[in-house]
This record gives sequence, structure tokens and C-alpha cells, in this order.
Amino acid sequence: MQVISVFNQKGGCGKSTTCSNLGAYLARHGKKVLLIDMDPQANLTVSVGVNDDELEETIYTLLQLNSKELTRERILEVMKETSYERLLILPSDITLSNAEISLASVMSREHVLKRIIEQIGDYFDYVLIDCPPSLGLLSVNSLVASDYLIIPVTPQFFSIKGIKHLMETYTLIKDTLNPNLEIMGVLVTMYDKRKNIAKDIRTTLVEVFGDKVFNTVIRQDVQIEYSQDNQTPIIYYNDKCRSHEDYKNLGREVLAWQRV
Ligand SMILES: Nc1ncnc2c1ncn2[C@@H]1O[C@H](COP(=O)(O)OP(=O)(O)O)[C@@H](O)[C@H]1O
Ligand SMILES: [Mg+2]
Repeated sequence: MQVISVFNQKGGCGKSTTCSNLGAYLARHGKKVLLIDMDPQANLTVSVGVNDDELEETIYTLLQLNSKELTRERILEVMKETSYERLLILPSDITLSNAEISLASVMSREHVLKRIIEQIGDYFDYVLIDCPPSLGLLSVNSLVASDYLIIPVTPQFFSIKGIKHLMETYTLIKDTLNPNLEIMGVLVTMYDKRKNIAKDIRTTLVEVFGDKVFNTVIRQDVQIEYSQDNQTPIIYYNDKCRSHEDYKNLGREVLAWQRV
């Protein structure tokens, strides 16, 4: 099993989009995939067709349980099936925003999500965690529970500035709470080849991260937004658009990826 956090404290860089579409690809190719929505905005939850307004229990329910209460059965009660085979989700809703405060006083508060995944991880090939756009306890829990990071970056000047901060967080977590953590890859998203800045920033990222930049670039594509409006991953929504091709290529890279 590989646990992968899709992480960048910047909002709007394609985290949730990458989580749902990569997850759908991996599930379609025979892998058992669990999505975990760690963002109170619940974009990931909604994008795979689960209605966040109707949920009685969410990942927040589980984050509040003590270790005795946190059983496999209890976790399976909260887990939801999606319309897609082998693709399951621990959903979120706005109540998850309470977690930053309620977790603060809990013993080993950085390890709560890790304990949840340990209970059920053996059932899945991939666990994909969608992180919130912040560096609080929800993100720290995600990083502590993960083997790998995928870091989506939009080709804008401010993204490069944010990366420095992100790397400090990564290094801190790796040095203290999770030495196992590795960057799988930096993923350029919403790429528009007509903009020179886009090319420059990809070049800069390759200089900094070397072969840890995915070969695949996710291009800007309005079909992504249509697919999300329809709560359908792009590979099921439109098989002739460029974002379908791009997420397929990313999926292949992730399937082939091995820790060196
Ligand atoms: N490749 C793309 N082309 C066009 N729009 C995109 C693309 N990827 C994401 N978007 C749009 O950009 C917005 C932010 O993406 P999202 O995945 O929600 O970012 P994050 O989770 O990092 O906040 C969403 O409205 C989404 O529909
Ligand atoms: Mg998001």
C-alpha cells in the first residue's frame, strides 16, 4: 500500500482535482483506492458524487474517536462507496474545520489520521489524501500518515515563493515526525503553453527538484470544470479532451513509480 498526500498550502493549485482524477484512474486500472478528504471545503467529496450536505458522519467523526473506539468496523461505517468500482472515500464536510481546535488538546495529535489508516490500510493499494490549503494540524496529520507527496504547482510567480515555505514544512515533518516521507513528484497544473511564464516556471522547478518533477504536465482545460460540475472524474466524463490525456499520463507515471 502507498499513502500519498496531495499537498500544497496554496489554495487553487489543483490538489482536489488531482486527487479525484488520479484516484479514478488508479481504480479503473484495477487498484483498490481510498480517497481521504482532509479539507473542510469537501471539494474532493463532492467531485466523486458524494453529497456533503447529507453526511451523518465524516472523517471528522473518526478524528474525534479515542484509540479504543477507533475500530476497523467503525471506520468502515463512515467510509462511502462512490459510483466507481474500487474507489472509496472517507468524506468530509464543513464540520472538519473544528478539527484544528479540537485536535489541539489530544494526545499525539499529529498521529490520529495515521492510526485510522493503519486500521484499514491493508485493504487498499493506494490511499490518496487531499490536504487543506493551510499548514495546520489537518495537513500535519496528512503528512505524518503519508509515504509520499504529490505537490501540484500552478505556473505563477507566487507559486514558486510558496514552494520555499512548503519545503520547510516537508523537511520539518521528515526530520521529526515522519522520516519515511518522500516527495514522489511536483506536478505542474493548469499549464498554458501560450504563457511564457509557464515555461520559465517549469524550468525553475526542474532546476530545484530535478527528476522529482513529473514528466506529465496537466494543461489548462475547461473540461475539468465541466466534469466537476457533473461530479464525474474526467476519465469518465470526456475521453477526447486534453485533461483526460494528461491525467491518464499522470496515472501511468504513478503506477510505474518506485522509491529509489
Ligand atoms: N487543469 C485544469 N484546467 C482548468 N481548470 C482547472 C484545472 N485543474 C483545476 N482547475 C480548476 O481550478 C480550481 C481549483 O482547483 P482545485 O483542484 O479545487 O484546487 P485546490 O484543491 O488546490 O484548491 C477549480 O475550480 C478547478 O475546477
Ligand atoms: Mg481542494
